[in-house]
Amino acid sequence: MSIDTATGNEAPAELSSKRVKDIFSHIANRYEKFNAISSFGAYKLWVAGMMKQAPISNNDDVLDIAGGTGEITFAVAKTKHPAHIQCTDLVPEMLEVAKAHYAAGAAGSVPVHFEVVDAQDIPYENNSYDTVTVAYGIRNMPQREQALSEMYRVLKPGGSLVCLEFSTPPNKVWRGLYHFYLNHLIPFWGGLITKDKKGFVYLSSSIKAFPDQEGLAKLMEQAGFVDVTWKNYTGGIAAVHVAKKPEAIN
Ligand SMILES: C[S@@+](CC[C@H](N)C(=O)[O-])C[C@H]1O[C@@H](n2cnc3c(N)ncnc32)[C@H](O)[C@@H]1O
Repeated sequence: MSIDTATGNEAPAELSSKRVKDIFSHIANRYEKFNAISSFGAYKLWVAGMMKQAPISNNDDVLDIAGGTGEITFAVAKTKHPAHIQCTDLVPEMLEVAKAHYAAGAAGSVPVHFEVVDAQDIPYENNSYDTVTVAYGIRNMPQREQALSEMYRVLKPGGSLVCLEFSTPPNKVWRGLYHFYLNHLIPFWGGLITKDKKGFVYLSSSIKAFPDQEGLAKLMEQAGFVDVTWKNYTGGIAAVHVAKKPEAIN
């Protein structure tokens, strides 16, 4: 099944894929500023939370999906020192920014390779990575079930998926305030500062159309993952899910 990621309604995958390519190729050079503005700087805290929860050790081969400008790749490199990271994204312009950060030493001594990859059709072998990371990626994918199945396929048995995504605050009052912020403030002041209102309008609507914590956990379980847990950040505005591919059965 494929959906329009701005509404959650069924729609041809090309609609969302084209929009996401337009938005991210256009904002690639301003993406990091865009991120800081839309989260009031909380993004860094959420990434730190993601790193705390990520079960990555220094022999691991890590696949970063929807890696964008490399924020998660470089956080993994600095905090976990894995053997290798494959940083991938659908949009070449985003990866160009990541490559420039890498050339400037953002990964320290950890080797990183970059490749344009659609998460819904990953060109890697079965059982090849110890950990898959994805931050703010799944929400932008029109074929989420397929993307999660692909992440599951390329993980080694016993490997983990670590996913940071916007989510739904469980507290009614906090959720109401947050939705007011999404509906009215983000498109206005984000647009004013970056002159790119379209990206902020899409951000708001895609967040509202995205499944809540439990809904995302169910999608992961349907793809075959087990032991799915999550931790909320900033009262559930963001959540980090960790899911496991079962160990091989002998
Ligand atoms: C909001 S950015 C997140 C980037 C990075 N993970 C971060 O935390 O800063 C979303 C990224 O998802 C990428 N993306 C969207 N759809 C994708 C797909 N089907 N496959 C791979 N990447 C995709 C976009 O190109 C964009 O770089």
